[in-house]
Amino acid sequence: MTITVNLQKHINDSYGIHMQELAPLAFSEKVAIITNPTVADLHLEKLLKLVTAPSVKVVKIPDGEAYKTLETIETILNELFEQRLDRRSTLIAFGGGVVGDMTGFCASIYQRGINFVQIPTTLLAMVDASVGGKTGIDNKFGKNLIGSFYQPKAVYIDPFWLSTLPDREFGAGVAEIIKIAVTLDEEFFCWLESADLKNHEAIKEAIARSIELKADIVAQDEKESGLRQVLNYGHTFAHVIELEGNYTEFLHGESVAIGMVMANNLAVNTGSLSHKDAARIKHLLEKYDLPTSFSTSDPEQFYDSFFLDKKSHSGKITFVLPRTIGDYVFVDDAKKEWVLEAIKGE
Ligand code: NAD
Ligand code: GLY
Repeated sequence: MTITVNLQKHINDSYGIHMQELAPLAFSEKVAIITNPTVADLHLEKLLKLVTAPSVKVVKIPDGEAYKTLETIETILNELFEQRLDRRSTLIAFGGGVVGDMTGFCASIYQRGINFVQIPTTLLAMVDASVGGKTGIDNKFGKNLIGSFYQPKAVYIDPFWLSTLPDREFGAGVAEIIKIAVTLDEEFFCWLESADLKNHEAIKEAIARSIELKADIVAQDEKESGLRQVLNYGHTFAHVIELEGNYTEFLHGESVAIGMVMANNLAVNTGSLSHKDAARIKHLLEKYDLPTSFSTSDPEQFYDSFFLDKKSHSGKITFVLPRTIGDYVFVDDAKKEWVLEAIKGE
């Protein structure tokens, strides 16, 4: 005899991404704002004036990728229990991608799931990390290897926060903007070539277009069974660069910039991208002072590290390669020698 647990689901997890000066946010149940000391010192006072709820608890976690760990998650969860947050409470992620990824993960497991909203304060989090519901933490085996797909209830993007962002962090965000333009939107790429993203109106336009493109991909393939992999252009290489640099040498977005150049080398070697277009992409990255080269001491070990990545399946790794600007191809049979040449910049 077989009894079926019928779990055909009809759920609607849609949410809005609001791009405007942050308006007052009123909650009818308890709220906890998760942030770090850097963001709190700069901006928490302003946020606290805008959030109303029966109780507003602030949980500060240490700043940096090094703290994107299970230990920090436990600290946050303990604070939530001590404050007696319940299943109707809401978490607010107030910070960059590190805070956002960890807050989302906590929200997905606290009492089996509570609501959370994203208020990203870095450019990278505005254009990428706060949208799409990937949450997670790192461990000794690599980045983002523990986590969940868990969508926020809303994302509030106010470019005002960027006024205090260091230039290097700004550039790291631009790398993700360039990533999405190269693979999905040639017109946007051409616009980026002539735009000055330090200009207030231009950055607003770039954030909006990047989110529009990402939201469209996420809507079609939320759990990354295929199409969403396009958002990983440059990331296969970037994750190894971050690992080799012990997560301190390069920012995530900077590693993605180098990773895109390596992917382009492979794309040129396999014939999907012209030298001219590869040079245009590199030039655009350089315009925002992003690094475009990395010298590994051991290309073989670099190559082997791909297979620790959660994106490798049955000993195969899928590379996202540009096929001209504004289009892409997935390649999962790249010959090892081509990949080694791409890593070495040959
Ligand atoms: P981050 O969160 O470490 O922030 C970078 C630095 O900027 C930190 O020191 C932070 O305290 C500081 N900061 C934040 N806002 C500031 C502000 N307004 N003014 C001054 N300083 C400010 O890094 P990030 O680049 O925002 O995010 C990187 C993380 O995001 C990585 O862990 C990466 O894996 C993750 N990520 C996730 C996704 C996703 O889809 N979930 C996508 C891309 C990246
Ligand atoms: N940053 C890649 C993704 O959201 O899928």
